[in-house]
Order: sequence, then structure tokens, then C-alpha cells
Amino acid sequence: MEVKTSLLDNMIGVGDMVLLEPLSEDSFIANLRNRFDHNEIYTYIGSVVISMNPYRSLPIFTPEKVEEYRNRNFYELSPHIYALADEAYRSLRDQDKDQCILITGESGAGKTEASKLVMSYVAAVCGKGQEVNKVKEQLLQSNPVLEAFGNAKTVRNDNSSRFGKYMDIEFDFKGDPLGGVISNYLLEKSRVVKQPRGERNFHIFYQLLSGASDDTLKKLKLDRDFSKYNYLSLDSAAVNGLDDAANFRTVRNAMQIVGFMEDEVQSVLELVAAVLKLGNIEFKPESRCNGNDESRIRDKNDLKEMCELLGTEQTVLERAFSYRTVEAKQEKVCTTLNVAQAYYARDALAKNLYSRLFSWLVTRINESIKAAPKSRHKVMGVLDIYGFEIFEENSFEQFIINYCNEKLQQIFIELTLREEQEEYVREGIEWTNIEYFNNAIICDLIENHQNGILAMLDEECLRPGTVTDETFLDKLNTICAEHLHFESRLSKSSKFLTDHSLPHNCFRIQHYAGKVLYRAEGFVDKNNDLLYRDLSQAMYKANHSLMKQLFPEGNPAKVNLKRPPTAGFQFRHSVGTLMRNLQTKNPNYIRCIKPNDKKASHIFTDSLVCHQVRYLGLMENVRVRRAGYAFRQAYEPCLERYKMLCKRTWPHWRGPAREGVEVLMADLTVPAEEFSFGRSKVFIRNPRTLFFLEERRRQCLQDLATLIQKIYRGWKCRSHFLLLKKSQIVVAAWYRRYAQQNKYKRIKSATTVVQSYTRGWQARKLLRELKYQKRCEEAVTTISAYWHGTQARRELRRLKEEARRKHAVAVIWAYWKGLKVRREYRKFFRANAGKKIYNFTIQRIMQKYFLGLKSTMPSMSPIDKSWPVKPYLFLDGVHSELRRIFHLWRCKKYRSEFTEEKKAVFEEKLEASEIFKDKKALYASSVSQPFMGDYLEISKNPKYQKLNSAMDEKVLLADVVNKINRANGKGTARIFLLTKNSVVLADQKTGQVKASVPLPDLTSVSVSTQSDGFFALKLKEGSASAIKGDFLLSSEHLIEIITKLHRTGATAADSEQLNIDISDEFLVQFKHDKVCVKFIQGAPKNGNSVSCKRKNNRLLEVSVPSTV
Ligand SMILES: Nc1ncnc2c1ncn2[C@@H]1O[C@H](COP(=O)(O)OP(=O)(O)OP(=O)(O)O)[C@@H](O)[C@H]1O
Ligand SMILES: [Mg+2]
Repeated sequence: MEVKTSLLDNMIGVGDMVLLEPLSEDSFIANLRNRFDHNEIYTYIGSVVISMNPYRSLPIFTPEKVEEYRNRNFYELSPHIYALADEAYRSLRDQDKDQCILITGESGAGKTEASKLVMSYVAAVCGKGQEVNKVKEQLLQSNPVLEAFGNAKTVRNDNSSRFGKYMDIEFDFKGDPLGGVISNYLLEKSRVVKQPRGERNFHIFYQLLSGASDDTLKKLKLDRDFSKYNYLSLDSAAVNGLDDAANFRTVRNAMQIVGFMEDEVQSVLELVAAVLKLGNIEFKPESRCNGNDESRIRDKNDLKEMCELLGTEQTVLERAFSYRTVEAKQEKVCTTLNVAQAYYARDALAKNLYSRLFSWLVTRINESIKAAPKSRHKVMGVLDIYGFEIFEENSFEQFIINYCNEKLQQIFIELTLREEQEEYVREGIEWTNIEYFNNAIICDLIENHQNGILAMLDEECLRPGTVTDETFLDKLNTICAEHLHFESRLSKSSKFLTDHSLPHNCFRIQHYAGKVLYRAEGFVDKNNDLLYRDLSQAMYKANHSLMKQLFPEGNPAKVNLKRPPTAGFQFRHSVGTLMRNLQTKNPNYIRCIKPNDKKASHIFTDSLVCHQVRYLGLMENVRVRRAGYAFRQAYEPCLERYKMLCKRTWPHWRGPAREGVEVLMADLTVPAEEFSFGRSKVFIRNPRTLFFLEERRRQCLQDLATLIQKIYRGWKCRSHFLLLKKSQIVVAAWYRRYAQQNKYKRIKSATTVVQSYTRGWQARKLLRELKYQKRCEEAVTTISAYWHGTQARRELRRLKEEARRKHAVAVIWAYWKGLKVRREYRKFFRANAGKKIYNFTIQRIMQKYFLGLKSTMPSMSPIDKSWPVKPYLFLDGVHSELRRIFHLWRCKKYRSEFTEEKKAVFEEKLEASEIFKDKKALYASSVSQPFMGDYLEISKNPKYQKLNSAMDEKVLLADVVNKINRANGKGTARIFLLTKNSVVLADQKTGQVKASVPLPDLTSVSVSTQSDGFFALKLKEGSASAIKGDFLLSSEHLIEIITKLHRTGATAADSEQLNIDISDEFLVQFKHDKVCVKFIQGAPKNGNSVSCKRKNNRLLEVSVPSTV
């Protein structure tokens, strides 16, 4: 039998104290020191783990370490807290045993750290998954929240738990965490209002002030400066290695992970701020007429801010600090509070507010982490309670804390020392009793229902009459005087009368872990835990939902006059419940030891460690362990567990279980001294034997597993094969079916094709036959038609021939008959017929001619020269005559439509024609131009207004003419005006009259035959006008001017007829000379204009371009 375990190999000192040789207190301490110096902080006593606080972080809590310890036997590796956690977890998972981890030790020994390590190990090794991870995270993150609100720096520990915590982690059958339940035990609330020297208030106050943003602090009406708050001790506000600001962020984050809503976090912080504000409220006395002092608030600013934070009415709270209402049996008495009472009320409120807030936090966390209700959960409880503590001044809180530790020691003793030894006796195992100190007597001193200290305290608190801490101490002195563990100066036992280390107002208890001196002062008050109803009612009235929840007794509708249970009673009750709960579970112990009092690493104070080893009863523990057996188990489960190790017991043992185990042990050749058979259990002395059994079992299980695997695999392969075969048949059947279907489909389609071809061929053949038949029928029909046609035509021809012959006969007959008749009557007609036929024919021709003429008549325009062509030669004369008559009639019609003006115009035109036609070449171009007379619009044009007004008579003609200069033949523009009586020449620009010639002074007008516009006005010799000589002028409207001159001259009754002389050479009288004006035809030049040149004194030559 050989087992290799690293617990024994390469070990520093002895890993399990059971194996320590020789066993003495010194060797025990030396072993602990040796291991501690080599960073081995864990040592076993059997299954109990001793943990030394290293006060520094060691690299033994890494994920790799977790993996190392995972699923390994307890003694297989060097001692570690992970081994204990793994053992507990596997027992819970595999053996379905509820577990509890009991962590004990004095303050600062490392209990809280150990509990966190256990939890983190379990979280790391248990199942994974989104939901499970969330549960784990919430369970782990509940720690920072509770530590912030429930831990504080004390002289013994910078992160001392000031409350007890028991956490049940619930698992399902697979070992996955489902949730948890946290129970908290009595928070040391006195710390809220007062802290011993060198200690701090709860962490959260410092964390809030250091870590909250400016904005948050402003909202909470807080100042970052700790010194502004009376409730915060200043001398140790900053703790080495504690980063409050960072921790605040961690806490907020943890609250969020645990499931706190943002408004809940805000409410919690508001209450924390309210506690700080409350501490700043101070009171001053105010004298009353009855001689009593009444308290008044000194500075109301903090009160006001606090009320604003909580939504309370300031006056209500102010009143609650000054008065107190006592209600008893329908009687209400209102008394005033003095300053001391007001301070008491204030602190009571602060303590209550904070401790209730803490309990609410636990409840709220429980709500988040609670597991869904299921039929059965496995539970692992982790107990981390405040450690045993002895301060300079110990009060009610320390008394309670130490009582709790006594109870835990008691349970340890019960289960490891007493129970074990009693079991050996019960089972009939040979056993020499081992002495140990049983602290049951101390527990009895404290919790005894009749005369225990707590019972007496309660009695004192409930007793009518004056009750003070002194009366309570008197009572203790009377009742507990004889108790071995109770010491008091004034007790009836006189042995302490001279003990000066024992003040009069104190009592001392010899706890299992040492003597502790308690000051009686405050015991009654703290046990009463009195909060004036006025204050709780004021809190209930606050407009703050969380506050309302915390002070339900303040609800006026539910006034309860019953006294609430005392703090001591409540604690004793809850510790009792806890102990009962722990006893139902399989315990796993972690005994924490503090190596020094300086919170320093590497220091091992022998005396301090020795003291702890003693009071923890570790030596006794080792002795019992060494004398006894490491392992015991009832026969049935033992046989059930190891029966596979022996062929005779495997798979079934038919006889009694004990015999089975005996056979098993004999078969395994386990040495006889290694085990004993009790009445109902087998006892195994050495862990090695257990390892051996476990190892064999593991191997056997592996073999069995291999066998099962082999059979299973064979079965699986066979079933798989059979399944494959079956499937193959099914597949083959399906495939064949499919193939046959396809083949059938192919044959079917081929048949259809062949069929269709055959049918087609037959149909075509039939069609051919039918067509042939039809053609034959058609041919027959055609032939018969042709034949009938031939017959019919032949018959028709015959009939036609016959008819023609008949007609010919009839015609010949008619001709012959006509000839005969004409010959007979010819002689009667020939005399009159010729003339009549002629007349008739002529008449017909004329009729046709006239009717034709009617339809082809030309238009009514006199200038239309068209006329229908003559039809017959003999009508030539008539045709011309008719044309002439039609033209004349047409002209007459045209004339008859003339108006008087138009008639005058045409008369002028006629006169012009008479004067110039065929005489002057210019005439032809003037025919189409209408005679406008006034070309200058002299009456309308404002430019000539003056000229117009100078005229006496109507202007018949106004035009611009060129007056030819007598000297050089060049022209000057002049306005030419003709009135009824005179001709006027005026300047074109100014309108000034240059010459005015009365018409009678004009003798003649000379013009050329050519197309020029020159004309000479010849004046009567001797007349007034003739002084300057004749006028040689040129105008574009020559024809009109001359015609109008001629007409005007003719109409003037008194004047002679004006002569119009038309020739290419005429004489003009220029002053005294007569100049010949000669018109010659020249080549066109200078833009086809007429040029006039004075050749000499007698000749003025006018060259007219031939084309003009
Ligand atoms: N395993 C460890 N590794 C490193 N430091 C440790 C370890 N255990 C404890 N400590 C240190 O010791 C300090 C005190 O430990 P812890 O708070 O666990 O004591 P405690 O037993 O819970 O005390 P109390 O009863 O006052 O709550 C820790 O803050 C930590 O600095
Ligand atoms: Mg702690």
C-alpha cells in the first residue's frame, strides 16, 4: 500500500499537525512559525485548516492555483484554503451534503479575507454560463457593498467587520449556484456617533466624501472636508493602503451589479449624508420659568439641509428634539428635553437610522440574489462573524461580539472534541479520554434564561422604577458572584476586593480567549435601544420613500405601545437560530490566527500566537485527532462506496454490511491497526488509508468507466451499425423504387413516342388516302363541271347563234321594210326640210354660245383684259362687240361707285394725262402715284404752324422742291406752297416766306420731255414778282405740281390759261439775262441723279440719265 501525496513530500515543517512529532505546544508553535516564515500560511489539523494572516498579498490565490486544487483530494496537495473549499464543494455536489464553512479567530485574523477566498474559489470551479455567471457576480459583489457600510478601521484591524454575516449559497443538483441568502447580526451602531481613539467610523462616510463627484456632493449638500463633520474622527481619517475614493467607485459599481436602481443608490447616499448632517446639529440650553433648562437647536443650517435632503418638515424635527411624548394607556404626556437628552435623542436617531439602513441593504441584496423557488437546493453556508476582541474600553458591543465567539467555540468543541470522543465510546472503540476546556460554562453565564447576564440585563430594562447601569451591575454582583468566570470588585465574593485592575463600575468575564473587562455604562441604554416615538414619527412623515420603510413604527395609524424586544434578546435569539442551523450542516473549519499585533507582515509574535493556539483549543484538537481516527463512516455507505474494490462485494453483497466491509478490508490487505470496527461505523485511523481507498476507488472507477465505456461504445457502434443497416435497406428500397420509377417513366415515355409515331404514320396514311379520295371526287366534280360547262356553252352558242340569226332576220326585215317605206314616202318630204333644219341648227349653236359665255364671263375689274375665246369663226364680229359693250358697262359700273374727292383726283389725273401723256417721259411713272397735295402736312406739323397761319387761303399743294441756283445750277431746298391765288416759296428750316407769286403773274411753265423733275415758272414781264427773274425748280412730284398749277390757273376766272411748254430747250429769264436751259441725255452716274451745270452765261445744262 503506497500513496504518494505532496502533503508529505517536500513539505516545509509538517503540513498536518497530526503528524507532528514530538507533539508539544512549543513544537506546534515552532512548526507554525517555520511554515509562516516560508510563506506557508496554511496548516492542517486533520480536516481543520489553520490560517495565519500574512498581512501581505501572496501569489497563492491565482487562477492557476484554483486549477491545481480543483477536483483533487484534500491531502493530495500542500495545505490550502482552496483544498478545504474544494472538499466542501465536492461533498455538497457529489454526496448531497449541505456544508458550512466556519471561520473563527480574533479581530484581524483574516476571517473576512478567508470567507472571500472560499467564495471566489467556489465561484471559479462551479458551472459556467450567462445566467450562472450573473448569479456568481452578484454574490461576489455583495461583499464590497456590505464591507463599505459594515466595516470600519479599528485598532486591531483596518477593515474590521462590525457586523456578523452568514451567507447561504444555494446550488442546484449540478453544483451551479442559484442564489443566496445573507443573514446579518447586530451591527456595532454606536460607532456611528462615537469612535474610540485611533479608530474610524464606517468606511462609507469617508468613501462618499472622498470619492463622490463635486456634483453629487452638492446634491447631497456635503463638503469634502472630513473636519466639518462631528461624527467623523479626524485623527485616523486616512488609513494607509486604503484608497477611499477608488473604493467608493468600486462600491457604486458593485451596487449596480447587485441590482440597485440608480434612485435607490441615490436614496442610500442621501441617508448617509443625513447621518453626517445629524451629527452637526448642536443644542443650547434655554431657561424656562419653572427653573428647568430646555434644549434649543444652536445653528439651524444643518438641520435645514438635512430636512431638505429627507423631505421632512423642519419644525417637526425641531420639536422632536425639544419635546418627548410618552403614551401610556390612552394618556399622552409631553415633557421637554434638556440638552443632554436632546443629544441622546440625536445620537439615537443617527444610530437607528444607520443600522436600519444597513439591514435594509442586506434585505435589498437578498432580494437580488435570492434563488428561484425550487424543490430542493443544496446549501453551502459561509460564516464570517466579528472576531473576538479586547479593547481598552469594552462595552455592550464587545460583550455581544465575544458572546458570539464563545458560541462558535462551543460549536467547534461540540463537534470536534466532545462529540468525537463520545462517539468512540458509543461505538465501543477503545479510547483514553482527552481533557479539554469546555466553554459551555461561559456560554451559560451569558445566555442562561434565569440568571444569565443577558437575562438579567433584560430584566433590569423591563423593570419599573429607576433603572441605571449601576443597578444592573449590582444585580450581576449579587447573582453571578459565585460564577467561576465572573469577576467584579463589588461582588459578594470578596476575592476581588483588592483587585485594582478591576474598577468599581466594571465587571470582568474570563472568556475562552482571555479575560475581558466590561464597563457597565451604557449597557442598559444600548440594550433598550430606545428611540423616542416623536423622532420615529418625524422620520415616517418624511417625504422620502426609503425613510418611510425604515421607520414603520412611526406610522401614526399603527401605534404599538408594546415594548420592542431588547437588543440582547434579539441577538441571543438570532445566534441560537444560527447555531441550530450550523448543526444541521457538515462543518468545515478555518481557524484564523493573527501573527502579530502590528498588522505587519513577516512578524511572528510567539506569545500572541501561543495565546490564540491555546484558547482556540488547537492542541486538544490535534491530540483527539492523533488518538482517534481520521475517518469514520457507517457500514452501509462505506460498503456502497468501496464495494467495487473487491470481487466478492462487487456488484452485490448479500450479507450484513459490516461483514461486507470486513471482507473488503481483508481483501485489500489493509493493516489491522489502520482500522477498527465500531458498532455501526468503521473507523479509519490514518488519512493515508483513506487516500489509498479513494485512490483504488478512483482507479477502479476509471476501469469501470472504461468497461462501461467499452460496452457502451460497443453497444453504440452496434446500434449505430444496425441503424445504418436498417437505414441502408430503407435507402436501398427507396432508391430501387426511385430507379424503377425512373425506368418505368422512361419506358412509358418511349412507348408514348413510338405510339405517337405509329399513330402519326397511320393518321398520315389515312389522311393521304382521304386526300386522294377527295382529289378523285374533286376531279370527278371538275370533269363533270367542265363537261356540263362545255355542254352548256355549246347550247348557249347554239342559242345565241339562233338569236343572232333571228335578230339579223328581224333587222334585215326592218331595213328592207324601211327601205321599202322610204322609197314609198321620199317624194312627200324633200321640199321643206332643208331650211327648217338649218334654222334649228343655227338656233341651237347660238343658244349654246350664249350659255357658254355666261359661265365664262371675266371679272368686273376695268383693267381685266381677259375674254373668252371665240367658238366659231362666223361669230367673230359679235364676239368683239360683246367684249366692247361688256367693258364699257363694266367701266360705267366702276365710275358710278366714285366719291366726289376720288372723282376730283381722277379728274386731275386725267388732266395730267392730257397735258403730259406721250409728251414727257416722267409721266408714265406718275400714273400709279396718287396726288396727295399736302406732302408736308402743313396744317398739322407744328414746325410749319407759323407758315400755315401766314396763308390766307387753303393750301392746295405743299412740297419740298429744289430751287436751282442761277449762278452754279446747284439746288437749295424750299417749301413750295400752292394756294388758289398764289405760289409761295419758303425756307425749309425756318418756314420764312422767300417769294410769293400771285397766279396771274405766272405766264407759263416749262418742262423737259425727259424723266427729270425740272420746271421753270415764267413770270409776266413787268409784274412785281418778275423783278428777281423766273424760278427754275426741281421736284419729285413735278407732274402733280404742274397739273395742279394748270388746274388752278384754269379755274381762276380772272386769269389767263397757263401755258405748259414741253421741250428739251427753253429760255429762262434770270434777272436781266436770258439763260437757255438744255436737257441732254447722259450716262448714269452719281447714283443716277440728275445733274445741273452752268456751262456759261447763256447755257445751263441739265444731264438726265437715260435710265431715269
Ligand atoms: N490571506 C490574506 N492575504 C493577505 N492579507 C490578508 C489575508 N488575510 C487577511 N489579510 C490582511 O489582514 C487584514 C484583516 O483581515 P480580515 O479583515 O479578514 O480580518 P477579520 O478576521 O475579518 O477581522 P474582524 O473580526 O475585525 O473583521 C486584511 O485587511 C488584510 O490586509
Ligand atoms: Mg472581518
